[in-house]
Amino acid sequence: MSIVKPASKLTPVLTDMWDRERSWNLESYRANGGYEGLEKALKMERSELVDMIKASGLRGRGGAGFPTGLKWSFLPPDDGKARYLVVNADESEPGTCKDIPTMMANPHVLIEGVAITSHAIRCEHAFIYLRGEVVHVYRRLMNAVREAREAGLIGQGVGPNGDFNLEITVHAGAGAYICGEETALLDSLEGRRGHPRLKPPFPAVAGLYARPTVVNNVESIASVPGILRNGNEWFGAMGTEKSKGHGIFSISGHVKHPGQFEAPFGITMRELIEMAGGIRDGHKLKFWTPGGSSTPIFTEEELDIPLDYESVGAAGSMLGTRALQVFDETTSVVRVIARWTEFYQHESCGKCTPCREGTYWLKQVMLRLEAGQGQPGDIDLLLDVAGNIAGKSFCALGDAAATPISSGIKRFREEFEAGLTTPARELFPYEASSVFNNKEGNR
Ligand SMILES: Cc1cc2nc3c(=O)[nH]c(=O)nc-3n(C[C@H](O)[C@H](O)[C@H](O)COP(=O)(O)O)c2cc1C
Ligand code: SF4
Repeated sequence: MSIVKPASKLTPVLTDMWDRERSWNLESYRANGGYEGLEKALKMERSELVDMIKASGLRGRGGAGFPTGLKWSFLPPDDGKARYLVVNADESEPGTCKDIPTMMANPHVLIEGVAITSHAIRCEHAFIYLRGEVVHVYRRLMNAVREAREAGLIGQGVGPNGDFNLEITVHAGAGAYICGEETALLDSLEGRRGHPRLKPPFPAVAGLYARPTVVNNVESIASVPGILRNGNEWFGAMGTEKSKGHGIFSISGHVKHPGQFEAPFGITMRELIEMAGGIRDGHKLKFWTPGGSSTPIFTEEELDIPLDYESVGAAGSMLGTRALQVFDETTSVVRVIARWTEFYQHESCGKCTPCREGTYWLKQVMLRLEAGQGQPGDIDLLLDVAGNIAGKSFCALGDAAATPISSGIKRFREEFEAGLTTPARELFPYEASSVFNNKEGNR
């Protein structure tokens, strides 16, 4: 794997080891300070550990940015019975590509994070719910768990006092976007079809097998060992006041060097595009997503907005999973949104009517607009259907499906109007936006 590491304001922490020799094995990880955080954590009181993560300002990296330590503190007082940690490794949001490479290149940072978190919440059986398609990552994780167990880092009666008990199960899901929604994930893990549960009760009170459960994203848990090892001051020195620390920004699309860039929160898209080698030669930026396909799109106007939860929110979008998809002027907005809409329609679990029926209708209308066969009133129809899904569905997948439609129309209404008469392919020949096998010779 060739990794571009521009000298810049990057803060490689989770990605630091990615280009090391056999970065995924225990020996390499330990040579890089691995499991020192766990050693420290096992000497700390559980409450002290929870307070430390609370004070660090670490926020969930799965999309919503909920404070991680605060989530842990929501578990009810220990009753001596089972309580669980479930790591959400379903990573499915279009454009998001941070958890899978992290687990592939450095699975032990996640295993160490799982061990520290399990100690903090007194969990003796943790689960990693991985999307099943990534069989190679599944194998790496299983191997890392085995290595950790054989080294006595996890298992029964380990740790400095011989009283740390932890089993880790890596579970391969069947691959469904909805199984990334935390309660659908828990249903799936229990062996049922992945459907979201009604909340409350929240997983902290009644989660896996109806027991108190913490569900956290891979990157959230993988960020914990670094905090233990280096301290809160180190972590807080990166990022902004309310969005602290480092995060992996995945840049894809029409840049010269797409990839993962680990940087402090608050970095701007202009800086990131520059690090990614700029927009491909001879082209210019048209639009981009700050947090994946379910977040309102941005254009050149927002290039200098700090990429932190607050600033992106104030500018009318969401930081989500930091899935920065870049599209240049060759791209048809209608085509892109039609693809995303097909995705959401396909992934709708069907439990609630607005999303099940609405995504089906959005798809029909988007496909006819893409084909240049739109009917008068289609744009208002799209807005109407999207408005009846957003905020009215059982879970946030409905909002995710509606967002690209409303934000696309807001920013590029004329392209939707053109869909009443002209196919998107004619206005924006698809070959021109292809990054592979195009006449210009790739990027
Ligand atoms: C449709 C849908 C899909 C989601 N997919 C993921 C996912 O793949 N990974 C993830 O960590 N969170 C995903 N989430 C968010 C989770 O429900 C949950 O908020 C997250 O795992 C909490 O972890 P964090 O607090 O560490 O961010 C998804 C949410 C929805 C509504
Ligand atoms: S919003 Fe969609 S994915 Fe969520 S419960 Fe309803 S049908 Fe299922």
